[in-house]
Amino acid sequence: MAEDLYLGVDIGGSGIKAAPVDVTAGTLKEERYEVPTPPGARPDDVTACVADVLGHFSWDEPFGCTFPAVVQDGVIRTAANVDASWIGVHAGKVIGAATKLDVAVLNDADAAGLAEMHFGAGRGVSGTVVVLTLGTGIGSALFRDGVLVPNTELGHIELNGRDAETWAAPSVKTREGLDYPNWAVRLNRYLQTVETLLWPDLLILGGGISREADLFLTLLEIRCPVVPAALDNEAGIVGAAMTARLVSNR
Ligand code: BGC
Repeated sequence: MAEDLYLGVDIGGSGIKAAPVDVTAGTLKEERYEVPTPPGARPDDVTACVADVLGHFSWDEPFGCTFPAVVQDGVIRTAANVDASWIGVHAGKVIGAATKLDVAVLNDADAAGLAEMHFGAGRGVSGTVVVLTLGTGIGSALFRDGVLVPNTELGHIELNGRDAETWAAPSVKTREGLDYPNWAVRLNRYLQTVETLLWPDLLILGGGISREADLFLTLLEIRCPVVPAALDNEAGIVGAAMTARLVSNR
Protein backbone atom coordinates (compact mmCIF):
# COMPACT_ATOMS: atom_id res chain seq x y z
CA MET A 1 0.00 0.00 0.00
CA ALA A 2 1.37 3.40 -0.95
CA GLU A 3 2.60 5.36 2.07
CA ASP A 4 0.08 8.16 1.65
CA LEU A 5 -3.01 6.13 0.63
CA TYR A 6 -5.82 5.72 3.19
CA LEU A 7 -9.48 4.83 2.91
CA GLY A 8 -12.06 7.37 4.03
CA VAL A 9 -15.69 6.40 4.71
CA ASP A 10 -18.29 9.15 5.07
CA ILE A 11 -21.53 8.13 6.80
CA GLY A 12 -24.21 10.70 6.02
CA GLY A 13 -27.92 11.04 6.58
CA SER A 14 -28.71 9.80 3.06
CA GLY A 15 -25.64 7.96 1.78
CA ILE A 16 -22.52 6.10 2.89
CA LYS A 17 -19.65 6.85 0.53
CA ALA A 18 -16.02 5.90 0.46
CA ALA A 19 -12.83 6.08 -1.56
CA PRO A 20 -9.09 5.57 -1.16
CA VAL A 21 -7.49 8.99 -0.76
CA ASP A 22 -4.00 10.30 -1.38
CA VAL A 23 -3.74 12.20 1.91
CA THR A 24 -0.70 14.16 0.74
CA ALA A 25 -2.61 15.67 -2.17
CA GLY A 26 -6.14 15.42 -0.75
CA THR A 27 -7.41 13.66 -3.86
CA LEU A 28 -9.48 10.52 -4.44
CA LYS A 29 -7.41 7.77 -6.04
CA GLU A 30 -10.38 5.75 -7.28
CA GLU A 31 -13.94 6.59 -8.14
CA ARG A 32 -15.96 6.83 -4.95
CA TYR A 33 -18.41 4.07 -4.07
CA GLU A 34 -21.73 4.94 -2.45
CA VAL A 35 -24.61 3.00 -0.94
CA PRO A 36 -27.80 4.51 0.52
CA THR A 37 -27.87 4.92 4.29
CA PRO A 38 -30.24 2.14 5.45
CA PRO A 39 -33.69 3.41 6.57
CA GLY A 40 -33.60 4.25 10.27
CA ALA A 41 -29.78 4.17 10.27
CA ARG A 42 -29.61 1.55 13.02
CA PRO A 43 -26.17 0.40 14.26
CA ASP A 44 -26.21 -3.13 12.79
CA ASP A 45 -27.45 -1.98 9.38
CA VAL A 46 -25.03 0.94 9.11
CA THR A 47 -22.11 -1.21 10.25
CA ALA A 48 -22.98 -3.83 7.60
CA CYS A 49 -22.96 -1.09 4.93
CA VAL A 50 -19.52 0.09 6.05
CA ALA A 51 -18.26 -3.49 5.74
CA ASP A 52 -19.81 -3.59 2.27
CA VAL A 53 -18.01 -0.45 1.05
CA LEU A 54 -14.72 -1.75 2.46
CA GLY A 55 -15.29 -4.99 0.56
CA HIS A 56 -15.83 -3.03 -2.65
CA PHE A 57 -12.27 -1.73 -2.36
CA SER A 58 -10.90 -5.01 -0.87
CA TRP A 59 -9.61 -2.77 1.91
CA ASP A 60 -7.75 -4.56 4.73
CA GLU A 61 -5.93 -1.74 6.49
CA PRO A 62 -6.89 0.80 9.15
CA PHE A 63 -9.34 3.41 7.88
CA GLY A 64 -11.13 6.60 8.89
CA CYS A 65 -14.88 6.97 9.19
CA THR A 66 -17.18 9.94 9.74
CA PHE A 67 -20.45 9.88 11.64
CA PRO A 68 -23.25 12.51 11.57
CA ALA A 69 -23.34 13.10 15.33
CA VAL A 70 -21.18 14.14 18.28
CA VAL A 71 -18.27 11.70 18.55
CA GLN A 72 -16.08 11.72 21.65
CA ASP A 73 -13.16 9.29 21.69
CA GLY A 74 -15.08 7.01 19.32
CA VAL A 75 -18.32 7.12 21.34
CA ILE A 76 -21.53 8.50 19.73
CA ARG A 77 -23.21 11.05 22.01
CA THR A 78 -26.16 12.37 19.95
CA ALA A 79 -28.48 11.08 17.23
CA ALA A 80 -30.27 13.86 15.31
CA ASN A 81 -30.41 12.03 11.97
CA VAL A 82 -29.62 8.43 12.95
CA ASP A 83 -31.31 5.88 15.20
CA ALA A 84 -31.30 6.88 18.89
CA SER A 85 -29.82 3.49 19.83
CA TRP A 86 -26.45 4.84 18.61
CA ILE A 87 -26.18 7.04 21.70
CA GLY A 88 -23.51 5.61 23.99
CA VAL A 89 -22.25 3.16 21.36
CA HIS A 90 -18.48 3.05 20.90
CA ALA A 91 -18.60 3.30 17.12
CA GLY A 92 -14.87 2.77 16.84
CA LYS A 93 -15.15 -0.60 18.59
CA VAL A 94 -18.42 -1.71 16.93
CA ILE A 95 -17.35 -0.82 13.37
CA GLY A 96 -13.85 -2.11 14.12
CA ALA A 97 -15.24 -5.48 15.29
CA ALA A 98 -17.52 -5.82 12.25
CA THR A 99 -14.76 -5.02 9.77
CA LYS A 100 -11.90 -6.57 11.79
CA LEU A 101 -9.91 -3.40 11.11
CA ASP A 102 -8.79 -0.45 13.21
CA VAL A 103 -10.91 2.60 12.57
CA ALA A 104 -10.80 6.24 13.65
CA VAL A 105 -14.30 7.77 13.92
CA LEU A 106 -15.03 11.50 13.91
CA ASN A 107 -17.92 13.87 13.28
CA ASP A 108 -18.75 14.26 9.57
CA ALA A 109 -18.56 18.07 9.51
CA ASP A 110 -15.30 18.06 11.46
CA ALA A 111 -13.88 15.70 8.82
CA ALA A 112 -15.10 17.91 5.98
CA GLY A 113 -13.67 20.94 7.75
CA LEU A 114 -10.26 19.33 8.18
CA ALA A 115 -10.16 18.56 4.47
CA GLU A 116 -11.22 22.10 3.49
CA MET A 117 -8.61 23.64 5.81
CA HIS A 118 -5.80 21.45 4.46
CA PHE A 119 -6.67 21.20 0.78
CA GLY A 120 -9.60 23.46 0.01
CA ALA A 121 -11.15 26.85 0.61
CA GLY A 122 -9.56 27.29 4.06
CA ARG A 123 -6.02 26.42 3.08
CA GLY A 124 -3.55 28.82 4.72
CA VAL A 125 -6.33 30.84 6.38
CA SER A 126 -5.68 31.79 10.02
CA GLY A 127 -8.03 33.37 12.55
CA THR A 128 -11.52 31.97 13.13
CA VAL A 129 -12.93 29.87 10.31
CA VAL A 130 -16.34 28.21 10.40
CA VAL A 131 -17.09 25.43 7.92
CA LEU A 132 -20.77 24.54 7.58
CA THR A 133 -21.98 21.44 5.76
CA LEU A 134 -25.45 22.01 4.40
CA GLY A 135 -27.33 18.78 3.68
CA THR A 136 -29.81 16.56 5.50
CA GLY A 137 -28.83 18.46 8.63
CA ILE A 138 -26.39 21.33 9.17
CA GLY A 139 -22.95 20.30 10.36
CA SER A 140 -20.24 22.62 11.62
CA ALA A 141 -16.50 22.67 12.10
CA LEU A 142 -14.79 25.51 13.97
CA PHE A 143 -11.11 26.31 13.49
CA ARG A 144 -8.90 28.81 15.26
CA ASP A 145 -5.60 29.33 13.47
CA GLY A 146 -6.11 26.00 11.73
CA VAL A 147 -6.79 24.04 14.92
CA LEU A 148 -10.13 22.21 15.10
CA VAL A 149 -12.49 22.66 18.05
CA PRO A 150 -14.50 19.42 17.60
CA ASN A 151 -18.23 18.74 17.91
CA THR A 152 -19.47 22.34 17.79
CA GLU A 153 -22.93 21.26 16.48
CA LEU A 154 -23.91 24.74 15.28
CA GLY A 155 -26.76 23.22 13.28
CA HIS A 156 -28.66 22.90 16.54
CA ILE A 157 -28.58 26.48 17.72
CA GLU A 158 -32.05 27.82 18.44
CA LEU A 159 -33.82 29.95 15.84
CA ASN A 160 -37.42 31.08 16.30
CA GLY A 161 -37.67 28.68 19.24
CA ARG A 162 -36.70 25.67 17.13
CA ASP A 163 -33.67 23.65 16.17
CA ALA A 164 -32.02 25.65 13.34
CA GLU A 165 -31.38 22.73 10.97
CA THR A 166 -35.05 21.72 11.02
CA TRP A 167 -35.85 25.15 9.51
CA ALA A 168 -32.84 26.12 7.42
CA ALA A 169 -31.17 22.92 6.08
CA PRO A 170 -31.31 22.15 2.33
CA SER A 171 -33.37 19.03 3.14
CA VAL A 172 -36.08 21.40 4.42
CA LYS A 173 -35.76 23.49 1.24
CA THR A 174 -36.47 20.32 -0.75
CA ARG A 175 -39.21 19.06 1.55
CA GLU A 176 -41.09 22.36 1.54
CA GLY A 177 -40.39 23.12 -2.13
CA LEU A 178 -38.71 26.47 -1.34
CA ASP A 179 -36.98 28.35 -4.17
CA TYR A 180 -33.56 29.90 -3.55
CA PRO A 181 -34.79 33.40 -2.58
CA ASN A 182 -37.19 31.93 -0.01
CA TRP A 183 -34.64 29.52 1.37
CA ALA A 184 -32.04 32.31 1.47
CA VAL A 185 -34.26 34.22 3.93
CA ARG A 186 -33.84 31.29 6.33
CA LEU A 187 -30.17 30.75 5.54
CA ASN A 188 -29.50 34.44 6.15
CA ARG A 189 -31.17 34.34 9.55
CA TYR A 190 -29.16 31.27 10.43
CA LEU A 191 -25.80 32.59 9.20
CA GLN A 192 -26.36 35.96 10.84
CA THR A 193 -26.89 34.16 14.15
CA VAL A 194 -23.72 32.10 13.70
CA GLU A 195 -21.83 35.28 12.81
CA THR A 196 -23.09 37.09 15.89
CA LEU A 197 -21.98 34.20 18.11
CA LEU A 198 -18.51 33.61 16.70
CA TRP A 199 -17.45 36.54 14.49
CA PRO A 200 -15.62 34.32 11.99
CA ASP A 201 -12.97 35.71 9.67
CA LEU A 202 -14.15 33.29 6.98
CA LEU A 203 -17.24 31.17 6.46
CA ILE A 204 -17.01 28.14 4.17
CA LEU A 205 -20.26 26.60 2.96
CA GLY A 206 -20.08 22.92 2.00
CA GLY A 207 -22.38 19.99 1.40
CA GLY A 208 -23.95 18.97 -1.90
CA ILE A 209 -25.71 22.31 -2.32
CA SER A 210 -22.36 24.14 -2.44
CA ARG A 211 -22.28 23.05 -6.10
CA GLU A 212 -25.09 25.54 -6.67
CA ALA A 213 -23.50 28.30 -4.60
CA ASP A 214 -23.84 30.82 -7.44
CA LEU A 215 -27.62 30.56 -7.03
CA PHE A 216 -27.64 31.73 -3.41
CA LEU A 217 -24.31 33.30 -2.36
CA THR A 218 -25.32 36.67 -3.80
CA LEU A 219 -28.51 36.54 -1.70
CA LEU A 220 -26.58 36.37 1.58
CA GLU A 221 -26.35 39.41 3.82
CA ILE A 222 -23.61 38.80 6.34
CA ARG A 223 -20.49 40.75 7.21
CA CYS A 224 -17.73 38.19 6.91
CA PRO A 225 -16.43 36.72 3.65
CA VAL A 226 -18.33 33.59 2.55
CA VAL A 227 -16.97 31.09 0.04
CA PRO A 228 -18.20 27.73 -1.24
CA ALA A 229 -16.28 24.62 -0.22
CA ALA A 230 -13.67 23.61 -2.75
CA LEU A 231 -13.84 19.84 -2.28
CA ASP A 232 -17.52 19.60 -3.07
CA ASN A 233 -19.20 16.64 -1.41
CA GLU A 234 -15.93 14.73 -1.13
CA ALA A 235 -14.50 16.67 1.80
CA GLY A 236 -15.89 14.16 4.33
CA ILE A 237 -14.18 11.24 2.61
CA VAL A 238 -10.87 13.13 2.45
CA GLY A 239 -11.10 14.23 6.11
CA ALA A 240 -11.91 10.67 7.20
CA ALA A 241 -8.90 9.33 5.32
CA MET A 242 -6.65 12.00 6.87
CA THR A 243 -7.81 10.82 10.30
CA ALA A 244 -7.02 7.17 9.48
CA ARG A 245 -3.39 8.01 10.11
CA LEU A 246 -4.25 8.22 13.82
CA VAL A 247 -4.93 4.47 13.96
CA SER A 248 -2.28 3.38 11.51
CA ASN A 249 1.24 2.19 12.22
CA ARG A 250 2.45 3.24 8.80
C1 BGC B 1 -25.67 16.40 13.54
C2 BGC B 1 -24.22 16.76 13.34
C3 BGC B 1 -23.84 16.54 11.89
C4 BGC B 1 -24.78 17.26 10.96
C5 BGC B 1 -24.48 17.01 9.50
C6 BGC B 1 -26.52 17.17 12.56
O1 BGC B 1 -27.86 16.83 12.73
O2 BGC B 1 -26.07 16.71 14.86
O3 BGC B 1 -23.41 15.99 14.18
O4 BGC B 1 -22.52 16.98 11.70
O5 BGC B 1 -26.11 16.88 11.21
O6 BGC B 1 -24.58 15.67 9.19
